Amino acid sequence: MYVCLCKGVTDSQIRAAIHNGADSMRELRDALEVGTQCGKCARTCKSLLKDSRPAH
Ligand code: FES
Repeated sequence: MYVCLCKGVTDSQIRAAIHNGADSMRELRDALEVGTQCGKCARTCKSLLKDSRPAH
């Protein structure tokens, strides 16, 4: 599904970026440009970051 409609970024793209080492909103923004327009996707991006972080 699309997380960021402004930039047409899907949750699987975001998960892939996280898998490749992005561990902050800033890194996701650098990699995929999510959150660079309306910012409505930021909350979903943050919860994907939280969910995808390995539990220590
Ligand atoms: Fe991501 Fe608008 S939905 S910046």
